[in-house]
This record gives sequence, structure tokens and C-alpha cells, in this order.
Amino acid sequence: MDKPLAGKVALVTGSSRGIGREIARKLAQMGAVVAINYNQSKSSAEEACKQIMAAEGKAIAIQADVTVMAELQHLFDQTLEKFDKIDILVNNAGILITKKIEQVSEEEYDRLFASNVKSVFFACQQAAEKLSPGGRIINISTTVTKIMMPGYGLYAASKGAVDQITRVLSRELGKKNITVNAISPGPVDTELFRAGKSEEQIAQMAGMSAFNRIGTPADVAGAVALLVSDDASWITGQNIYVNGGLAG
Ligand SMILES: NC(=O)c1ccc[n+]([C@@H]2O[C@H](COP(=O)([O-])OP(=O)(O)OC[C@H]3O[C@@H](n4cnc5c(N)ncnc54)[C@H](OP(=O)(O)O)[C@@H]3O)[C@@H](O)[C@H]2O)c1
Repeated sequence: MDKPLAGKVALVTGSSRGIGREIARKLAQMGAVVAINYNQSKSSAEEACKQIMAAEGKAIAIQADVTVMAELQHLFDQTLEKFDKIDILVNNAGILITKKIEQVSEEEYDRLFASNVKSVFFACQQAAEKLSPGGRIINISTTVTKIMMPGYGLYAASKGAVDQITRVLSRELGKKNITVNAISPGPVDTELFRAGKSEEQIAQMAGMSAFNRIGTPADVAGAVALLVSDDASWITGQNIYVNGGLAG
């Protein structure tokens, strides 16, 4: 199989499970060596590494809570120590809290913004210093920013911030020939998406896409593959809606 990313090093935050795990697998399949980051799910992260190595890829698992700056720094430094450089950063780690505005506590607000915004901002700060010239940053946002769904105000606000970080940073990192883009998935079949939803609600959301289904982690990983390719070197500061035509 063709290995367009041979010789490249990728760091994917929150890749023990869900979308991040599939992105890590895809990048490894394309030839990159991959740092798999996890916070709590050590055995899942180790399993993700095993799967990659079973397919003759190379990966290591690194524990770091990306909401803590010192741990983010450790994550980048560990990756550099193991693999000498970092070419691709995918800021995927994130959490979802869905509640109407009256029900959101200060603790939930702070936790969600730390997980979804602080983590991305300071990972990008690390990347500004430590990513190789010609590198790629991809921030995972959401289509929820486009569809005004009740209960998603806090989450949509956090991803709106991610979209703005992406836009501005693309101009700051142009000098290093680094592209910075966002991918905004629609509903994707993971633990984060399924938690608290009935099968009926899921079927209703599936019906909102052009293909009458929920997205898969592989659908999102495919878009990452496009953005890290050499052919995407002129694409920066953009937000790609990967949602089966749900909105954009
Ligand atoms: N699923 C969807 O429908 C959907 C749609 C649009 C956007 N997204 C976005 O896609 C991304 C991934 O979502 P998902 O559905 O794959 O979620 P998921 O299945 O819940 O997986 C989340 C991943 O993030 C990691 N993580 C969470 N907090 C972390 C922290 N503080 N430090 C390090 N890792 C952390 C988790 O690792 P541990 O278990 O080790 O903590 C796990 O690997 C998120 O940014 C989400 O907002 C998802």
C-alpha cells in the first residue's frame, strides 16, 4: 500500500477511543509514526497502539491531561524525545455537556472550556514552537456551531472558539509553512455521541444527513487524510464540514 506519510510523525490528542483512535490508525496506515495521547483510558490506548503495530505501523501511547499546560508540554516533549520531530498535530480530545442554559454550573462551564478550548489553544502554542516547518495542525470542531440546537449552547460556544483559534493561527503559522484547519463533524457514532440519547433520537439525527445515517470515525479520519496530504498545502484557515450534507 502507498505510504504518503512515510517519515512523518503525528501526535493525536485523545486518541485512546472514538474519532481520535481512528484518525491515529489512518495516519499510521498512511505511513506516519503516531503518538497516541490518552488521559484515563490506558488500556484502550495500549490496544490502539497494538492494532497499529499489528498492521506494521509504529505508535506509542503517552498519558497527558491536555487541560493542564505542564502535561501538554510533557506530551510534546515526550513525542520529540521518542521520534525526534512532530509534523502533524490533531487536536481531537474534547468532551460534550448538553444542558439548557439554566442547568449549566460554573464547574461544568470551566471543565468544558478547559477540555475543548484551553487544551487546543495551548497545544497550538506548543506546536507553534515545536512543529516542523511544513507541518499540519487540524482542530476537531463540530457542525453543532451551524444548527442552533437547544442544549448545545455551552458546547457550541467552546467549538466556536476553536474555529476562531484556527483562523487566526493559520495566519501566524504561515511563516513556518504550517497549515491550520478545522474539521467539523456532524453526529459520529462514538461513546460521546451515544451517551444519553435514545435510538429514536439517533435515528432522527441520521435522517438529517443526505445519506440517512450517522457518521463514522472513519468518515472523519478520511477528511484528516485529505488535509495532511501534499495536495492540501494551499488549504489553510478553513473549516471543513464533514457531516453527510447536514449543514455547512
Ligand atoms: N462524536 C460526535 O458526534 C462528534 C461530533 C462532532 C465533533 N466531535 C468532536 O470529536 C472529538 C472526539 O470525540 P469522540 O466522539 O471521539 O469522543 P469520545 O469517544 O468520548 O473520545 C474522547 C477522547 O478524548 C480523550 N480525552 C478527553 N479529555 C481528555 C483530556 N483532558 N486529556 C486527554 N485526552 C482526553 C479521551 O481519552 P481518555 O478516555 O483517555 O480520557 C478519548 O480518547 C471531540 O473533540 C468532540 O467534540 C464529536
